[in-house]
Amino acid sequence: MVKHTATSVVTIERFIIEQERLHPEATGELSGILYDMALAAKMIASKVRSAGLADILGSAENENVQGEMQQRLDVLANEMIVKAMDHGGRLCAMASEEEPGIISIPEQFRCGKYCLLFDPLDGSSNIDVNVPVGTIFSVVRKITRGKHGEMEDMLQPGRRQVAAGYVIYGSSTMLVYTTGQGAHGFTLDPSIGEFLLSHPNIRIPDDGRYLSVNDSYEQHWDDDVKLLMRRYRGLDGGGKPLSGRYVGSLVADFHRNLLGGGIFAYPANRKSPKGKLRLLYEANPLSFIVEEAGGGAIDGVRDVMNIDPTELHQRTPLYIGSKSAVEQARQLLSGRSELVGA
Ligand code: AHG
Ligand code: MN
Ligand code: MN
Repeated sequence: MVKHTATSVVTIERFIIEQERLHPEATGELSGILYDMALAAKMIASKVRSAGLADILGSAENENVQGEMQQRLDVLANEMIVKAMDHGGRLCAMASEEEPGIISIPEQFRCGKYCLLFDPLDGSSNIDVNVPVGTIFSVVRKITRGKHGEMEDMLQPGRRQVAAGYVIYGSSTMLVYTTGQGAHGFTLDPSIGEFLLSHPNIRIPDDGRYLSVNDSYEQHWDDDVKLLMRRYRGLDGGGKPLSGRYVGSLVADFHRNLLGGGIFAYPANRKSPKGKLRLLYEANPLSFIVEEAGGGAIDGVRDVMNIDPTELHQRTPLYIGSKSAVEQARQLLSGRSELVGA
């Protein structure tokens, strides 16, 4: 890998080109997908930044120009990604949290060899209270023979991802991605509109600091999960206690723990036996990133990226973060398969 320090000015474009050169066989298509995602991220960031003004700005605009109701930001983010990605000739299909089925590439555009799966706006219920939200994406290679992507192309295990990333729209906008050669973070410099390399080769600390879990579900957890959480808090034979932090935006909780160490957990519970988070466009991409950063991700028993998906919007329990905390979960929870849908 080309060595960069956080102090030299490296745009995301330069970084992607340099990474591509390490693969003489690369055609540039994957790089194109990453640029286009960076562009979509900038467009979404600009909308998110004025979210509180949406009613004020939106009503006038909509009455005069479109004559329709202001759209919710997650629908807008979905449209922005689809429009930024559908015409580049690199994708054969897409799938989004916001759409029930496969999103086809319009007939007038070329089809490429990759599929894109994404959560356009993660944590969108937090928008109204000005809490960070995000975008998560995953790229897999097409495996079927036809021109257009099919369900079989979408339902590939996370181990087959060729790229994955997320964007956090926080106090600054950051994009973190991996193509399997480390996880790298870029911060948007709003004065020049460029993502600049700010966090090369991210490593998740192993002595985790944070525990992120919504413990209002505790009454519905299995006894093993209750015990695990007590141990994370330093009780019942646990080690150094982790400190509780829960935003309720997966991207924000994940990002904090990636940089500071710790674990995010969304366990299965008796009301939601497969948890809440979606395998293909939430759990898999973040699992790829955390593994590249030296951490881990399991559903309680299996590595998330080894799960064979059966449905586009499939849910999975998730324990993701520093290796030692994830292994502690695996030790305590493996053996119970009824709550992980195995
Ligand atoms: P989304 O906004 O994309 O539907 O995702 C919301 C998710 C995730 O961001 C967060 O970790 C989780 O919902 C929070 O769920 P609880 O409110 O059940 O804790
Ligand atoms: Mn989400
Ligand atoms: Mn979402």
